[in-house]
Amino acid sequence: MKILVTGGAGFIGTHTLIELHKAGHETVVVDNLVNSQKESLKRVSELLGGVEIPFYQVDIRDREGLTKVFQEHKFDACIHFAGLKAVGESVAKPLEYYENNMSGTFVLIDVMRQNGCKNIIFSSSATVYGDPAIIPITEECPKGHCTNPYGQTKSMLEEVLTDVQKADPEWNVVLLRYFNPIGAHKSGRIGENPNGIPNNLMPYITQTAVGKRQELGVFGNDYPTHDGTGVRDYIHVVDLATAHVAALKAIAEKKGLAIYNIGTGHGYSVLDVVNAFEKANGVKVPYSIKPRRAGDIATCYCNPAKALAELGWEAQYGIEDMCRDSWNWQKNNPNGYEA
Ligand code: NAD
Ligand code: WQD
Repeated sequence: MKILVTGGAGFIGTHTLIELHKAGHETVVVDNLVNSQKESLKRVSELLGGVEIPFYQVDIRDREGLTKVFQEHKFDACIHFAGLKAVGESVAKPLEYYENNMSGTFVLIDVMRQNGCKNIIFSSSATVYGDPAIIPITEECPKGHCTNPYGQTKSMLEEVLTDVQKADPEWNVVLLRYFNPIGAHKSGRIGENPNGIPNNLMPYITQTAVGKRQELGVFGNDYPTHDGTGVRDYIHVVDLATAHVAALKAIAEKKGLAIYNIGTGHGYSVLDVVNAFEKANGVKVPYSIKPRRAGDIATCYCNPAKALAELGWEAQYGIEDMCRDSWNWQKNNPNGYEA
């Protein structure tokens, strides 16, 4: 298939491009580079043995720019990663987040339908479950209250896409609810490249291990979990990437609307991750216990059985692989994509 990948220069996008090409698909990337660099796409091409992926530096809110891309290419489906994703920043800049993520998706799906492409895979998030009513979380678990504008955009866009599909059954909409993506391509050439101080656990760990940060702050050790620290379902980004390849099956089968949890089904605490990282890499991660972070929940991990049953997908990598590959990326690229 020929796939439009919005946000393809980012962390999950770059890894997904590789898996799409390995599976025989053709791709075109649209990204405004607000949170990425062109260098990431250069490295994807290198990893694919020189395959040139057409790239358009276009903001998905730019209707004219996006329409031109559709005039030049006939797409079978779109994988829609483009969006702003920093939870804390979204609290400080709600309007920018709502504008970018909501308006961007409105323009994208309108341009898609005008050009006869009605197949979309949308990057949703475990955040839509809020403080989950059921653990492990199944897709039947009711959605919860999102404590930040970023999460709200994901939850609302799920509703928008659901309504669009309901109104026009020609649409196939796959909502992938990612749990906590970490890790990197085993080559160490592409990986997560956060701007400034990382919000997320793994980039904070790797930056501490490489000496860019003094110590990791562990946000709370009084949660009702086995060691008091927050428990999450970490998933290797390459597994996440192959989930998108598998999700194309739901589109080929014309499922209409389909929702899948994309996680491993295993929960690890913050201290479990620190220990696994130290063990896998033989490096120390100094840390100290800090107060809880506002908006955090105790435990979040999924039941990924539906993705296995319907898409034939399940995660292949474990926490040690994730820790090894995150570190391999960080130590080989202490400043990310900057030279
Ligand atoms: P990322 O920031 O690395 O990638 C997103 C890409 O979208 C960036 O390259 C950015 O430049 C681009 N972009 C943003 N707004 C744009 C716009 N208006 N027009 C064109 N391009 C735009 O993030 P990621 O971690 O690769 O996440 C990809 C998607 O998955 C996002 O939608 C994110 O919300 C979602 N998601 C991520 C996580 C996570 O923890 N990384 C978890 C759940 C869901
Ligand atoms: C994991 C655990 C923290 C940093 C976020 C978004 C979610 C999704 C994935 C996009 C928690 C603890 C963290 C640190 C710490 N993103 N922690 N010290 O909060 O589960 O999910 O990213 O959709 O929407 O909310 O991930 O990596 O920030 O935190 O102790 O410096 O690590 O308290 O228990 P989270 P995270």
